[in-house]
Amino acid sequence: MKVLAINGSAGKDGNTAILINTVFEELNQAGIQTEMVQLSGTIIEPCKACWGCGERKNCVCGKDMFQEIFEKMTQADGIILGSPVYTANISANMQALLERASVVTDMNRSENLFRHKVGAAVTAARRGGALTTLDAMYHFFMLQNMFVVGSSYWPMAYGQMPGDVQKDEEGLDTMRNLGQNMAHLLKALEERRNG
Ligand SMILES: Cc1cc2nc3c(=O)[nH]c(=O)nc-3n(C[C@H](O)[C@H](O)[C@H](O)COP(=O)(O)O)c2cc1C
Repeated sequence: MKVLAINGSAGKDGNTAILINTVFEELNQAGIQTEMVQLSGTIIEPCKACWGCGERKNCVCGKDMFQEIFEKMTQADGIILGSPVYTANISANMQALLERASVVTDMNRSENLFRHKVGAAVTAARRGGALTTLDAMYHFFMLQNMFVVGSSYWPMAYGQMPGDVQKDEEGLDTMRNLGQNMAHLLKALEERRNG
C-alpha cells in the first residue's frame, strides 16, 4: 500500500514537510510506503476550462508537473494534501492543482478515479486561517467518494519560520494520531478488499 503526499508550500522542506513526515513515520511503522511531492520551485497552472479532459483521465493542458502528479494520485491508496496557510487559505499552487484534479474527475465520473481512497489534510500556520485551509483541502476529498481521516484535533500546527512547528508538541501529536488513524483505515479497507 502506498500513500502520496503533496506539499503545496512555496518553501521546500519547511513546516508543512515536517508535518507530513511526522504522519509518514506512523505510516512507515505500519508497513505502508510513502512518497512526498513538493510543489516548491514549480508553478502549477490553473484550469483553463477547455473541457478537453473528458474521457482522457488526465488534464490535456500545460507543460507543468500536473499530469505526473495526477497520475501518482490515481495510483496511490491514500493521499495527504498539505498546505501552509497563505492569506487565510491554501497556497496558489495547491488551489491550481485541486482545480484541475476536480475538473478531470468531474469529466471522467464513470472512471471513479479516487473512489474509496483515503484522504488526509495537514496545515502549518503562523496564527490564523488553519481551519479554512483544511476545509479547502477536505472539499476535494468529499466529492471523490473518498474516506477522510480525522485525528485527536484538527491537523494543524503553529509556526512561522521553517522548523518552528517542531516546538508545537500538540500539533505534532495530532499528526502522529492522524498517521495512526490513516494506517488503521487503510489496513481495514485492504482486509475488506481481500475478503
Ligand atoms: C504568502 C504567505 C502568506 C501567509 N499567510 C498567512 C496567513 O494568512 N495566516 C497565517 O497564520 N500564516 C500565514 N503565513 C505564514 C505561513 O503559514 C507559515 O510561515 C507556515 O509555517 C509556512 O509553512 P512552510 O514552512 O511549510 O512554508 C503566510 C506565509 C506566506 C509566505
